[in-house]
Amino acid sequence: MAQSLKIVNRSTNPFEGQKPGTSGLRKKVKIFKQENYTENFIQCTLNAMGDKLNGSFLAVGGDGRYYVKEAVLKIIQMCAANKVKKLLVAQDGIMSTPAVSGLIRKKGCDGGIILTASHNPGGENEDFGIKFNIANGGPAPDGVTNRIHELSNSIKEYRICPELSCDISRPGVTDYLVEGEPFRVEVVDSVEDYLELMKGIFDFPALRQHVTGGFKLLINCMHGVTGPYAKRIFVEELGAPAESVVNGVPLEDFGGHHPDPNLTYAADLVEAMKEGDCDLGAAFDGDGDRNMILGRKAFFVCPSDSLAVLANHLECIPYFKTSGVKGYARSMPTAGAVDRVAASTGKSIYETPTGWKYFGNLMDAGMLSLCGEESFGTGSDHIREKDGIWAVLAWLSVLANQKMSVEDILGQHWRKFGRNFFTRYDYENCDSAPCNQMISELETAIASGSMKDKSFSSGGKTYTVAKIDNFEYVDPVDASVASKQGIRILFADGSRIVLRLSGTGSSGATVRVYIDSYEKDHDKILLPAQEVLQPLISIALQVCRIKEFTGRDAPTVIT
Ligand code: G1P
Ligand code: ZN
Repeated sequence: MAQSLKIVNRSTNPFEGQKPGTSGLRKKVKIFKQENYTENFIQCTLNAMGDKLNGSFLAVGGDGRYYVKEAVLKIIQMCAANKVKKLLVAQDGIMSTPAVSGLIRKKGCDGGIILTASHNPGGENEDFGIKFNIANGGPAPDGVTNRIHELSNSIKEYRICPELSCDISRPGVTDYLVEGEPFRVEVVDSVEDYLELMKGIFDFPALRQHVTGGFKLLINCMHGVTGPYAKRIFVEELGAPAESVVNGVPLEDFGGHHPDPNLTYAADLVEAMKEGDCDLGAAFDGDGDRNMILGRKAFFVCPSDSLAVLANHLECIPYFKTSGVKGYARSMPTAGAVDRVAASTGKSIYETPTGWKYFGNLMDAGMLSLCGEESFGTGSDHIREKDGIWAVLAWLSVLANQKMSVEDILGQHWRKFGRNFFTRYDYENCDSAPCNQMISELETAIASGSMKDKSFSSGGKTYTVAKIDNFEYVDPVDASVASKQGIRILFADGSRIVLRLSGTGSSGATVRVYIDSYEKDHDKILLPAQEVLQPLISIALQVCRIKEFTGRDAPTVIT
């Protein structure tokens, strides 16, 4: 007999700053825990669905961080009270962001809520996040997130079924009656559907043969959501030894670490790769959408190069043989390595603003198959999120097919296409006001035309400005415009400096400086990246007056 539940309307007041950033709303756990804070945002997210909310079918999952379980229960109680008809809930609330995207698409959901602050630290004193994905499985576009923010400024009440209880620790279906109307919760296995999706994309028997034939993997899940996926896929399905997966248990505080797969925060993977004899190393972020790829002896694959190499070898992956390669895309700050592959294969290449949400329209319109960001994001149109595990399976497919090491693949690539040397400097947790001032002074310089044709010299190299702007993107599918997406200083030789403020932080400002310098001279392509980039780095720091505005002598993280 279904539990019969009452809907309670609770009055509330708006909270300031419930504005989703590059990827959802991210704040400290303490902020989300304030009375009504989480409820307000969920109600506004549901209300932003408009007419589609009544009778809708939604999915919910999270990265396992602190506060996910409480938030899942609130979402179930509020969906019940808001006339959602059916809710798919990940077992224990744990499901990677790419897996939720895949689930929404596979089951035909009207959308989904993902509880994650991605690569930000977790725990009682750290970050939490809520993000809404639409029916195509991708992050809600600006129109929807702006609507959520607008609603949050005037919310007066939310609806909830406080008596509803639900055991999410086991897969299964529970039916409820909410003031006479049926409401169903289906708890689903976190890995099953995703595994099936991957099996349809890659040649698992060939990959298994490669892995069991002596190819050694080291997968570091950084105590994020990917542990159960990595164990199931790399160990159980592909036959890697159990010790190939480390930090594979999802923890609410990610073991006290910053779950971001880069050379700084995944230093333990770097060390283990340096000391050991593994052929391919990889790490993922908290919610499993980012990836870092390393070769033998910790040879680092710059994410912009990773995208370009995959673009050049897509024929190694059965999915692309069937679906064809429709085009590539990269976010604006991502180095232009993939552009050169596009030029050689004759495919289209799109340059979008930072954030995965801009790729979705192109994919839905059949214009885009493979895309990536310099921030360790790689993915394809199999879903509408970037996908860490997918990226490792893609690399594994290339390596199994080419029978070459990661380093040799890169060497071959650079000899053919030239090399885009790339680095990113992050200045985290700065004061917002001077950082905004820095951007507006650069905008003033752009408007005055004073930078045009100007030359800068450093370390024996001279760069002449060809163009400087604040990047604006016009979506080729729906003509929507995203302006002020980052200051770009484009030089005559194709090198670039990009400066923008992060949209994912939970407080203060993070300044990101991106440097992309192209070399096609075979004598230079194997030089250490920092050496080649040093002149342009000095120019960037000087032109933007980083020290003056941030008060910092050095960045917090260099990638
Ligand atoms: C950062 C990355 C961006 C990525 C986003 C979500 O955003 O730079 O490429 O899509 O995280 O993972 P930012 O903090 O720069 O706004
Ligand atoms: Zn993430």
